[in-house]
Amino acid sequence: ARITLRQLLDDAAEHGYGVPAFNINNMEQVLAIMNAAAAVDAPVILQASRGARSYAGDIMLTKMVEAAEAMYPQIPICLHQDHGNDETTCLSAIQIGFTSVMMDGSLKADMKTPADYDYNLDITRRVTEMAHRVGVSVEGELGVLGSLETGEGEAEDGHGAEGKLSHDQLLTDPDSAVAFVRDTGVDALAIAMGTSHGAYKFSRKPDGDILAMHVIRAINERMPGLHMVMHGSSSVPQDLQEAFNAAGGEMPQTWGVPIEEIQTGIKYGVRKVNIDTDCRLAMAAQFRRVATEKRAEFDPRKFLQPAMAALEALCRERFEAFGTAGHA
Ligand code: G3H
Ligand code: 13P
Ligand code: NA
Ligand code: ZN
Repeated sequence: ARITLRQLLDDAAEHGYGVPAFNINNMEQVLAIMNAAAAVDAPVILQASRGARSYAGDIMLTKMVEAAEAMYPQIPICLHQDHGNDETTCLSAIQIGFTSVMMDGSLKADMKTPADYDYNLDITRRVTEMAHRVGVSVEGELGVLGSLETGEGEAEDGHGAEGKLSHDQLLTDPDSAVAFVRDTGVDALAIAMGTSHGAYKFSRKPDGDILAMHVIRAINERMPGLHMVMHGSSSVPQDLQEAFNAAGGEMPQTWGVPIEEIQTGIKYGVRKVNIDTDCRLAMAAQFRRVATEKRAEFDPRKFLQPAMAALEALCRERFEAFGTAGHA
């Protein structure tokens, strides 16, 4: 059954759990995530980027989610537009059945000037008015994702912003967050607290200086009912890096967001936890392993089946770690 982000995160807040939001692009990812959810009785957020929509095509993407609903009628599914960049993307997502959209005003405006804030505020408010009229939820974003280690805002494209931003400019300002939520009416707010997208987040295990958990606590103090969203929340586990590299991959040593930091965030109001990189790595390590171990193999299913099993195991771990399990 389809559920809005608001309905799901309200339940998560009431019961004190978080919900991983996994990115989907193809049938194998949908099946693996749904199998994991069914195994532990967890509600799911399936999120599709603009890239996912053009990769699969809107019809294929939405029909896959319809198929998942038919196959797993007991599992609530929120279909969410990840990083919507403008009103057209959000509106078209709503038209094809998404129950939630992210209006990411920080994609265009990097929040360095008051004009950037006003742009983000205006467009997010317009999208929220439109979405709420038809019962769809909205996630906004305030702040700039990027590593506090390097001081680079990534302008959300993973390639780094032009200028260097200071720590304070990258992080979400708690007072502005409260005003932004009040003035836009968003159902959930993505915050910048030191994470970035992709595999290369930190060059050592992040501590309190690098991950700004104090931002989460400060926002939670000011607005206890607010549903916060953590982007860039892959943990990039060492065992997945090793599996990838053992099969001929070349991933330089890197660190992601430790599970225990996400669990702390959930204690202080983080309700949606975005994970894509870990899913990619889990699958790709299996592609490499099969390619190396079975050099005569050319049946795509022999690559995809172990990749699905690895993704399913990863999703299950996250459902259990975030307390989502048992709440379908
Ligand atoms: O935040 C980005 C997600 O990992 C989706 O990535 O735009 O390559 O589909 P994508
Ligand atoms: P990761 O790259 O850490 O998986 O983050 C994904 C994300 O934030 C999607 O919006
Ligand atoms: Na999103
Ligand atoms: Zn993101």
